[in-house]
Amino acid sequence: MHSFRYVHGRLHCEDVAIESLVKRHGTPLYVYSHETLSRHFEKLDEALRPLDHLICFAVKANSNLAVLRTLSRKGSGFDIVSEGELRRVIAAGGDPRKCVFAGVGKTESEIAYALKQGIYAFNVESEPELKRINQVAAKLKKTAPIALRVNPNVDAHTHAKITTGTYENKFGVAFEQVERIYARARALRNVRLRGLQMHIGSQLTEVKPFADAVRKVVPLAAKLAKRYGFEFFSIGGGLGIVYQPALASGDETWWKSPPARKMLTPSKYADELIPLLKPLGLKILIEPGRFIAGNSGILVTRVEYVKQTGKKNFVIVDAAMNDLVRPAMYDSYHEIVPMKQANGKLVSSDVVGPICESGDTFCKDRMLPRSVEGDYLALLSAGAYGSAMGSTYNTRPLAAEVLVRGKRSELVRQRQPIEMVWAGETVPAWL
Ligand SMILES: Cc1ncc(COP(=O)(O)O)c(C=O)c1O
Repeated sequence: MHSFRYVHGRLHCEDVAIESLVKRHGTPLYVYSHETLSRHFEKLDEALRPLDHLICFAVKANSNLAVLRTLSRKGSGFDIVSEGELRRVIAAGGDPRKCVFAGVGKTESEIAYALKQGIYAFNVESEPELKRINQVAAKLKKTAPIALRVNPNVDAHTHAKITTGTYENKFGVAFEQVERIYARARALRNVRLRGLQMHIGSQLTEVKPFADAVRKVVPLAAKLAKRYGFEFFSIGGGLGIVYQPALASGDETWWKSPPARKMLTPSKYADELIPLLKPLGLKILIEPGRFIAGNSGILVTRVEYVKQTGKKNFVIVDAAMNDLVRPAMYDSYHEIVPMKQANGKLVSSDVVGPICESGDTFCKDRMLPRSVEGDYLALLSAGAYGSAMGSTYNTRPLAAEVLVRGKRSELVRQRQPIEMVWAGETVPAWL
């Protein structure tokens, strides 16, 4: 469930008409719902209540300060993958003591910064990284809390580019090597073995791969916890969302009834996993990004031109793959709906951006209401891995972002001033 719906034929976010936001802020424009962000966090939090747990929102999914503030106010911790993300969390008022630091390439300076901020744990992805963390901690006369990221070699049955928990992937330490590496880690003077972590992939729509991975890793976690006095086990992120709610265009009720059968709900997830995790007696961390932010945001775009070629009806919009790269990168599906509800005939449409790449395509041969120049469209489910993956390719400024709460709305990232796109570049005097 999310808070984008038609009211009298006009798309709204909570109580705010998208039309009014477009008038004020222009396009391309990301719009986030405070209510949806909060509700998704709360649903997960409630479902996990039987466990001592901490939700660490994956900042990579949406790193806007207002989004991070919304979640930190709810008590969220954060899963970070860079010094920059930790700095964002702190700037948003988040607590570094609730942060876990993942990523295969942590630099010395990133490790030092995170140590100084007192993060909860480094999720260590290799033995050389472990050595480096120990060295940096020794230099700073600190003890680094660590957890090894175990790669359980379980197929998550998701898109190859977002699978992370098989031996084909660069992430974590092979299941068979974990015990040996912890034994070595114990001898290091400046690390403290605080827990174990895993993550098998993103956009998982079934609970089975989670359960398979948890079943495989729990006995190891139990053994190591006893041996080293662990405090936590993190089961990663990965809960999928519905991107394709079989939206019948013109049906005002589509947003009320997403196909529940297909959804991986927090209660389905919790019902299956809690009995497996509870006996461990450890604090359970989860690191969801997409589940919390995905359906909390849309990308609004203006139709610039419509052109028919011999074969196709191209709807050329002012958003592009630099604003939302998921369709170009993962062939991913985003529902596209008009800002003003249309009841006319549907026409086969390719919605494309202005970037000089054939991959700059949001959908192909999709039956959509006929658009004309000056119409506005919304790409739904764009709140995760949307603006966070934005770039300035083709010297296009980063899109503006707005947060809505009830009747209120606020610009939470201004459209990037065009000169800022090349700020920092210089032309040598000898040219
Ligand atoms: C270690 C880790 N944790 C959490 C996440 C967040 O995943 P999701 O957005 O699917 O919940 C990712 C995403 O790749 C990840 O690699």
